[in-house]
Amino acid sequence: MAVSGLLMLGYLVAHVAGNLKVFFGPEEFNAYGHWLRVMGAPVLHHEWALWLVRIVLLAAVVAHAVSAYQLSRRDVRARPTAYVHRRKRSSYATRTMRWGGIILALFIVWHVLDLTTGTVHPGGFEEGKPYQNVVDTFSTWYGNVIYIVAMLAVGLHVRHGFWSAAQTLGVGNARRERLLRGLANGLALVLTAGFISVPVAVMTGVVG
Ligand code: HEM
Repeated sequence: MAVSGLLMLGYLVAHVAGNLKVFFGPEEFNAYGHWLRVMGAPVLHHEWALWLVRIVLLAAVVAHAVSAYQLSRRDVRARPTAYVHRRKRSSYATRTMRWGGIILALFIVWHVLDLTTGTVHPGGFEEGKPYQNVVDTFSTWYGNVIYIVAMLAVGLHVRHGFWSAAQTLGVGNARRERLLRGLANGLALVLTAGFISVPVAVMTGVVG
């Protein structure tokens, strides 16, 4: 869980930084989208590096989901009988992580169909024009709702997930624990605010 999660977290940090280029106009944002396809050239052929990233990310998502399932099975096996008191068997954090994970998995499918393949994209999806595609997505009310809800889920998931990963990999002492908690909160905040700034910018006409 920890290793696949941290890998995806690294991707999110790079992705939010890339998305912020939308504030520098269509040329710069579209050029960035083009660069994603020619990364590694001339050593690598067109889109090879991008496909490598896609394959690694897909493997991380699968590993993450399988580990989550196995962990929850282990949890159930450890306490096969129900509690006498009708107490919920999972904590608030556990339930948030499960639901958050499901929301994020659904979001990723929607997001790829929206901005990569254009299948569910509102308006005319144009390959090689991510700037206009992003503006079109956030010009619909449901586009804004889907993305903003998903970004809040990203924040909550990263906040607890980063902290759990740190514990799995060994936190050390109390001082480092405080530092890691701060880092988890900071990362969650930067990612959520950074991602949400794009739909907000389109809604307010700053980007468009
Ligand atoms: C407001 C938030 C977001 C915006 C505006 C956004 C925008 C984009 C755009 C424009 C692309 C296509 C880039 C291109 O093909 O040139 C893309 C790809 C992608 N995004 Fe996002 N993204 C957002 C949030 C997220 C989040 C939270 C995740 C993960 C949980 C994510 C995962 C991905 C993935 C995996 C791809 C690559 C699809 C592929 O090429 O195979 N995105 N995003």
